[in-house]
This record gives sequence, structure tokens and C-alpha cells, in this order.
Amino acid sequence: MEETILLGTSDAQLKIAAQALKEGKVVGIPTETVYGLAADATNEEAVRKVFAAKGRPGDNPLIVHLADFSQAEQYTSYIPPLAKKLAQAFCPGPLTMVMPKNDRIPMATSGGLDTVGIRVPSHPVMHRLLELSGLAIAAPSANRSGYPSPTTARHVMDDMTGKIFGVIDGGACEFGVESTVISFDSETVVRILRPGCVTRDMLLPYCEDVIIDKAILSEVAAGEKVASPGMKYKHYSPKANVVLVEGSAEALKKFLQDKGETSCYALLYAQQDDFPCKVITYGTDSSAQAHLVFQCLRELDDLGAGTVYVQAPSKEGVGLAVYNRLIRAAGFEVIRL
Ligand code: TXA
Ligand code: MG
Repeated sequence: MEETILLGTSDAQLKIAAQALKEGKVVGIPTETVYGLAADATNEEAVRKVFAAKGRPGDNPLIVHLADFSQAEQYTSYIPPLAKKLAQAFCPGPLTMVMPKNDRIPMATSGGLDTVGIRVPSHPVMHRLLELSGLAIAAPSANRSGYPSPTTARHVMDDMTGKIFGVIDGGACEFGVESTVISFDSETVVRILRPGCVTRDMLLPYCEDVIIDKAILSEVAAGEKVASPGMKYKHYSPKANVVLVEGSAEALKKFLQDKGETSCYALLYAQQDDFPCKVITYGTDSSAQAHLVFQCLRELDDLGAGTVYVQAPSKEGVGLAVYNRLIRAAGFEVIRL
């Protein structure tokens, strides 16, 4: 057990964090998507501490964060021209591009793959930390493996106290869901491995096609080959039993009334009069839902919720990212009303 310190965002505090990273320690960091668990991406021992703190399977690679996309040359063996175009449009921001790695990225960081996911975060605190440390920073989401991602420093403290050096408190994350992860099927065709706030429609003008990998909305069978190791693991799962409901709040109300269910919770777009069980809300538009989804799942655990019926989000635009997280939180249990 080490004492985990809470750090502020002044330069003096960020220098403490930068020094800790250079010494191979692990620090919780804010980004515009979710909080990450940062370590020097080139330091195998430091990266192993990240896997240990999360309880993450060793074959699930970490994203490498850079201050500027021009640094990608130092960690990759090939950068598709399309990646450079996309970087101009979306970096810094919530986009991760998977490219062939070079020897500076240890196998521990890449989960044994010969590729690396590169991301240039836009969060000013994370950006400053990258500058001050001069490092390439490997950072998965800062939750314990399988649990919903953290969007506040408090969430990181809840999961990581005693396991890491410190957490930088940069306030609540802007987007609330993790970055869009893409790989390159060809020089002109991109594949979305994990949907996020950079949507298919936003990528399309730069590409001949943007394929949405089938594992985004469906369960991966045991032993099936996947494009991204993260697809095959249990994910975003609170303690509560989550059931995704395709249908209106009205239809869910009737369903619960007919069943006589009152002890469950419902996660709805908006409050409803005379609902048979307790309701919490996560907003009506996709951006609000993305911002709140993980926070709501954590809150439901704090409330001691047993079963939670979740009004399914739209799959359009950013909604696809929210749907992808929720269908996994539900272990693919969906009812259609
Ligand atoms: O927004 C984000 O991406 C956050 C913040 C902290 O930057 N990070 C994050 O990391 O969500 P993580 O490790 O929780 O999720 C990364 C996902 C995993 O599903 C992993 O399998 C996939 O990206 N991934 C990483 N590198 C990959 C690679 N080389 N090839 C295929 N998939 C990769
Ligand atoms: Mg994660």
C-alpha cells in the first residue's frame, strides 16, 4: 500500500507528477474523455504497474499519448498519409489511431501486438504534463478493470487509492466516454474499433469508407479473432445488474407495473411522473448522455441498486459510443418493448 496523493493543476503540482512519471511511478490524470492511469510508455516496469493497479489482462494494449502528432514518428514504423490528414483535422482531440509500432514501444505497452494506438489529448492539464515530462505517456482509463471508466478525480481515488502515486484533479471530463479508436484497413479505408466523440460522419469526408467493426454492437464469441483486444473483455460493468431497454419510458413504466417491480432502478432520458421505481436521468441528447453515462453507472452502485433498467440511447452520431458502453455494461442483455 502506498499513500495516494491528490494533486492540483498548478505548474508546481504538475512538475511533481511529471517527476513521478519519469521515476517510473503511476499517476491518475484528467483528459477530455475520461481519467487515465499514466506511466512512461517506454518504461516496461512502469507500464507493468499500470496493468497491476487495474487488474488488467496483459494482452490488452495501452494507448500512447503524445504532446503533438509530429512525435508519432518516434514511436511508429509507418504512418499512413491518411493518418496525417486525420491528425490535422482531429488532433488534439478524442481520436486514437492504431499504427505499426517501433522498438521504442515495449511489448508490455502494446500487449504483445506489433501496433500502437497513438492519441494527442486536448485537455490542457494533460497537455502540460506531456510537455513538462517530455514523455510518451501510456494511459488506459483509470478504472479497475471491467468497471465503468472514471470521469472525476474522486472516481479514480475510489478505484486506485493505495495502488498508485497520485491523482491530478482536473475537474469533470468534458466528453465522458473514451476516445474513438481506429485502425487502417487500407490507405483510404478506416475501421472504427471503438466508437467515441469523433464519429463516423466526421471521419467520412477524409476517407473512401469508414467501417464500423461488428464487435462494437455484438458480443464476441469465445476464441473469435478480434481487431482490438479490448473487445473481448467484460467492460464498463457496475455491480448492479444492468438491462438495456429498447423502447420508450412509457413502455418501460407499463412493463414494470405489469411485473410489479418496484425495488429496481431506471436510468432514463428524463424524469417521469409516477414511475413505479426510483429513477435517475442521463439526458436526452447524445452529448449529455456521453458526459453522464459512466457517472450514472457509478452512482447507481453507490445507491446500492440491484437491477437497473436503462432506456437505450440512440445509435446515431455520438450515441453509438454511449450505446456501445451500455450494451457491454448490460452484458448484452437487451429487452425490446
Ligand atoms: O479516451 C481514451 O482513449 C482513454 C484516455 C485515458 O486517453 N484511454 C482509454 O484506454 O480508454 P483503455 O486502455 O481503457 O482503452 C483502450 C482501448 C482498448 O479497448 C484496447 O484494446 C484498444 O483501445 N487498443 C489500444 N491499443 C490498441 C492496438 N494497438 N490495437 C488495437 N486496439 C488497441
Ligand atoms: Mg478502459
